[in-house]
Amino acid sequence: MKVINNIKELRKCLARYRKEGLTVGLVPTMGALHEGHASLVRRSVEENDVTVVSIFLNPTQFNDPKDLERYPRTLEADCRLLEACKADIAFAPTVKEIYPEPDTRQFSYPPTDSVMEGAMRPGHFNGVCQIVSKLFMYVEPDRAYFGEKDYQQIAVIRRMVEDLGFKLEIVPCPVVRQSDGLALSSRNSLLSAEERVIAANIYRVMKESCSLGLSVQQTHDYVVEEINKIDGLEVQYFSIVDGDSLADVSSWDDAPSIVGCITVFCGTKPIRLIDHIRYK
Ligand code: PAF
Repeated sequence: MKVINNIKELRKCLARYRKEGLTVGLVPTMGALHEGHASLVRRSVEENDVTVVSIFLNPTQFNDPKDLERYPRTLEADCRLLEACKADIAFAPTVKEIYPEPDTRQFSYPPTDSVMEGAMRPGHFNGVCQIVSKLFMYVEPDRAYFGEKDYQQIAVIRRMVEDLGFKLEIVPCPVVRQSDGLALSSRNSLLSAEERVIAANIYRVMKESCSLGLSVQQTHDYVVEEINKIDGLEVQYFSIVDGDSLADVSSWDDAPSIVGCITVFCGTKPIRLIDHIRYK
C-alpha cells in the first residue's frame, strides 16, 4: 500500500491507473479506523481495481473545538488495518495541503442538511461537503463508499453530487454493530467499559420499538422515555423521518421508507453517540 501525503502525487499516481483503464473506489475517513471502516474498504476492494482511503481529520466539519481536540488519532494502526484490507493507497494529507487558504464555499441542501445534526451542529454539513467535494475532485472515483451509520450525511452528499454533477456512484454500506447492538464508531473508544455497556441500550430500545404496533408519535415518545430512564444516557433528539428527504413524518403511510435517527449523550464527559433504525 502506498501512503501519499500530497495532492499532486496522488493525482499522478491515479492518472497512471486510469491510463490502464482501471476503476477507482474511494473510502473517505477521518482515521481512528475500526471494523466498520474495514467493511467499507473490503467492499471497495471487491468492486474496484484500485481503492483509495483518505485519512483526514477535517477541521471544518467540527463546530466544537473540544470535540476536534479529543477525536482519536491513530495513523499507524490505521495504516496497518488498511494494509490488511488490501487498500492500494492511503491518502493522509496535512490540513495545510487541503486548505492552503480558508475554504469559503457554502453548501446548502435543505432539509437534508438543516434538520437533526444540521440543526444541532451548525456548519457541520457545510464542512463535510467542503472536504468530500475536494476529495471527489482529487480522486475522481467511480464509486465512493459511506457508512449508513451517518445516515443523514449520505442524504446530504447525494444532494451535493446531484448539484455539482459529479459522475460517480455513492455506495451506502450497512452499520456494523458489536454483538450487543452498539453501532461501531470511532467515538466509542472515548467511552469507559461501563459506558459502552450502557450505550448498547440505544439500539436495543429502538429495535424494541419496531414491534410494538405504536403510532409514529407514540414510537417517538417510547424511545425517548425508555432511553432517558437509563442512568448515563440522555437523548438529544430522536426524529422519525422520510428515509430519502429526511422530512418529518406523522404517519407510517407518509413515505415509502421511514427511519428513526437518534443522538444520545452518554456518560459524564459526555460522549455524543448517533445511530438510526429503519422502520420501513
Ligand atoms: O464520515 C466521516 O468520517 C466524515 O464525515 C467524512 C465523510 C470522512 C468527511 O470528513
